Amino acid sequence: MIEIEVRQIVLAVAAVGMVAVTAVAGAQTAPKDEKEATDTNKKTVLITGANRGLGLEFAHQYAEAGWNVIGTARKPESATELNALSVRVMKLDVADPKSVAALASDLKGASIDLLINNAGIFPRVGSLEETDFAAALQTYEVNTLGPMRVTRALLPNLREGSGKTVVSITSGLGSIENNTSGRYYGYRESKAALNMFTKSLASELRDDGFICVVISPGWVQTDMGGPGANLTPEESISGMRAVISKLSPEDTGTYWNYNGDSLPW
Ligand SMILES: NC(=O)c1ccc[n+]([C@@H]2O[C@H](COP(=O)([O-])OP(=O)(O)OC[C@H]3O[C@@H](n4cnc5c(N)ncnc54)[C@H](OP(=O)(O)O)[C@@H]3O)[C@@H](O)[C@H]2O)c1
Repeated sequence: MIEIEVRQIVLAVAAVGMVAVTAVAGAQTAPKDEKEATDTNKKTVLITGANRGLGLEFAHQYAEAGWNVIGTARKPESATELNALSVRVMKLDVADPKSVAALASDLKGASIDLLINNAGIFPRVGSLEETDFAAALQTYEVNTLGPMRVTRALLPNLREGSGKTVVSITSGLGSIENNTSGRYYGYRESKAALNMFTKSLASELRDDGFICVVISPGWVQTDMGGPGANLTPEESISGMRAVISKLSPEDTGTYWNYNGDSLPW
């Protein structure tokens, strides 16, 4: 829905004059020192963990689709691929409350239509005996508390936006009902808790017109998913963008697979 609106706005702007057309086209090729200027005619998406993997592909595809994209990275100075896109790059460690507060302060007064809580970690443990509790706690810190604190800090920006959409990237491993193989302690719980957060947030913000959902990206060829995964980032992100584009307020509090299927909690 959001994307359709953006396209309609761009088409309407194009119809009234070449100046506007130049501005829209120019956004794709803006020199680096102009990157921080945002085009107020466009929808804005903020993506956490946008320097590599799924976050980078989200940033790439939304920028290509004409959105104002804010891509965050823990180390913006070494986010080479992200800096090469027509996006605004900002610093953010979702596990550090001071970093989150600094981002919110820098973005004070700016509207955000879509927040994508994408940053995450996956401790490579299987059985309970292998589980490192410090790693499990850190996984909860990043995968669960991270989206909670980023969403809270950016709520004023989301209230200013017309999209009012919070998408948190969960995992199929976060489904309690589908869990028949066990293992992956720490990670599964962090994503199940992220799902619960999203359900609570959806209820709390329903009357304010917010759309809060979780989407599983599938098993994807990133540093996390590994080269043997069955999906490319392009396939996964195209699928998730299609899901996001069709969301309406009635969908708040739902759990999706990247291909548009509904997942059981
Ligand atoms: N790939 C899959 O098969 C798969 C499957 C299910 C769910 N997911 C979920 O999809 C999301 C993206 O995964 P991915 O495959 O793209 O993983 P990835 O390739 O390992 O990338 C993870 C991203 O998260 C960032 N990150 C980690 N800790 C952070 C922190 N404390 N603050 C801010 N950013 C942080 C990383 O930044 P640095 O470069 O600074 O570390 C990186 O940008 C995650 O939430 C993951 O759980 C992935």
